[in-house]
Amino acid sequence: MRRRDRGCPLIPGLPGAAARGEQSLPTTVSTSLSRSTGGTVSQSGPGLSSRRRDGGRIQGGTTATDEVDRVGVIDNTSHSDDAGCSASAGSGEGIMRRVEELREQTVWKSDPHTQVKHLVYRHYLQCWMAKILQKFPEATIVDGFAGPGVYTDGPPGSSIVVAKTFLEHAAHRRFGRLNLICLEERPDRVEELHRQFAKLPNSPQLNVRIQPPGTFAEQQSRLSALAHCGRADTPVLWLIDPFNLKSAPFSLISKCLTGPRDEVLFTLFTNELHRFCQREGFDIAMTAYFGGDHWQTATIERRAGARKEAFSAAYQLGLKELKVFTGSFGIKISNQSARYHLILATHSEAGLKCWAPVTWKLDSYSGQGASADTADALSLFDEASVVDRLDVALRTLAGTEQRWEVLSSQAARLNHMDKHLRQVLDNLAAQGLAIRINPVKARSAWPEGCTIRFYAPEDVVEESA
Ligand SMILES: C[S@@+](CC[C@H](N)C(=O)[O-])C[C@H]1O[C@@H](n2cnc3c(N)ncnc32)[C@H](O)[C@@H]1O
Repeated sequence: MRRRDRGCPLIPGLPGAAARGEQSLPTTVSTSLSRSTGGTVSQSGPGLSSRRRDGGRIQGGTTATDEVDRVGVIDNTSHSDDAGCSASAGSGEGIMRRVEELREQTVWKSDPHTQVKHLVYRHYLQCWMAKILQKFPEATIVDGFAGPGVYTDGPPGSSIVVAKTFLEHAAHRRFGRLNLICLEERPDRVEELHRQFAKLPNSPQLNVRIQPPGTFAEQQSRLSALAHCGRADTPVLWLIDPFNLKSAPFSLISKCLTGPRDEVLFTLFTNELHRFCQREGFDIAMTAYFGGDHWQTATIERRAGARKEAFSAAYQLGLKELKVFTGSFGIKISNQSARYHLILATHSEAGLKCWAPVTWKLDSYSGQGASADTADALSLFDEASVVDRLDVALRTLAGTEQRWEVLSSQAARLNHMDKHLRQVLDNLAAQGLAIRINPVKARSAWPEGCTIRFYAPEDVVEESA
């Protein structure tokens, strides 16, 4: 296989790529399927201040997470959607078969959840690449749990999805260089990944670096040095998509957010959290996973869907302590509650502005979660987007004047796009609660750069009285 290492220079102190057994591959390729930002959790549980950060420590001996491993904390497994916090294994036999399949086979079959997840990846990457790779000469994506790069039924794996999104991007000729670093624990899957990349065409701008087999926790520091190319501020997007909780404790996620332009897209196992959260001994694994015991606030929720959303909100609350913006999206099948959530953590508001359209595109009703069904019927709810949270937020601005940029930023933090902001402003204006005061004349009601004054309902009533 031809070596091609045009990436960032080797980091001083790191052994050479060849010595590491790392392979850089020829590429130039071509690919093709739920939201909330920063929700809050109930205050009645343990607060952040009382959290114990235990640095991702896991119990010795047979751990609760080992146990979960056995029953399948796996993204492709079928689980029951039970309402309680029981440890019921759902369709136990089916799960065990799936676990066996994943343990024994190099490549396994995809499922609808995977397709939705990859669709989210693709949409987000489209935007991320356009913004980052046209601004910076070089950036890196680390696929930390890469898998074999293909599924038995044909769809590409995540690393190939990244490469194809790059190579098929309409603007890719204007892009700076993208380093794509892939890590996978199993040698047979690494071999398959090499085979899959070898099928892709070359591109001078895409530098693929498949690492020798290794575990993410052990390799993270080395990968981080490699990804940043000797500059802390190199933009790095980490894709963290493990099979189980213990491979990605919060301490490890926070290490991936050390650089000022580091971003993480993380698979949060909300179904398993919901099912095992109150099992004896599991609290230690939960606390390592969340980086504190604030996850306990979610257990107050009784319904499966509400509890899973609360876990997603609790996780984001932990991330916010790292001073990052967050977004989340539930991946579900049909009308069931989410199997897992994709969580975005980013230092940049631009990252959030890429995230919101992805979630609204996949779930145009609420922007909170998508299934394979909704992905097929993207325009089903186009006329009825849920903008309540934005409406509530804008109403609190009564008595103030606000610049468009401030409002747009606030909307992005609530996972809304500018089109939602305009929709809510139209509605408030119709009630006399928002008025554009500058510029006086404009081609549209709410142009960028405008200033808006907000009123309370009482002001309007008094005036008409
Ligand atoms: C959920 S699959 C990844 C699927 C892939 N990201 C995709 O979307 O196509 C998880 C992969 O991570 C690998 N893995 C498990 N534990 C790991 C670890 N600690 N470090 C790196 N890879 C690991 C597994 O062998 C498996 O191939």
